[in-house]
Amino acid sequence: MSKIIAIASDHAGPAYKKAIIEHLTALGYTCINLGTDTEESVDYPVYADKLCKAVTSGEAELGILVCGTGIGMSIAANKHKGIRAALCGDPVSAALTRQHNNANVLCMGARIIGLETAFAITDAFVGSEFLGGRHQRRVDMLESL
Ligand code: RB5
Repeated sequence: MSKIIAIASDHAGPAYKKAIIEHLTALGYTCINLGTDTEESVDYPVYADKLCKAVTSGEAELGILVCGTGIGMSIAANKHKGIRAALCGDPVSAALTRQHNNANVLCMGARIIGLETAFAITDAFVGSEFLGGRHQRRVDMLESL
């Protein structure tokens, strides 16, 4: 079954987000675009909040957040219970954060990471599964913090 991926950005990333949506759609994923779609200045916590609600409600299985650095989005996303957001700059970290941390939101910096690398990071994230086992105990500990 194809995964449903929610994706959102602030004004630093609409074109970048669009490219990631096209990339994922071509691979057979279903994307829910939660905006923003223009370069008019917006506040990244608003978009992080929308996306986290789509993931915690089950509307989307995974989420992708883009801002200039990815940092503001990751800080905002990790304030939501049930969200484990990982700021990634390489595909190995993206695969490992799914496998070990059961990360359900990927954050990337549109002003930091080139698109080809972003595609590789995205592929690694959406294509990897949580390994469970000893990692489940640690994720349970994260959730109880
Ligand atoms: C917006 O200028 C910028 O602050 C934002 O995209 C992000 O990088 C914040 O962490």
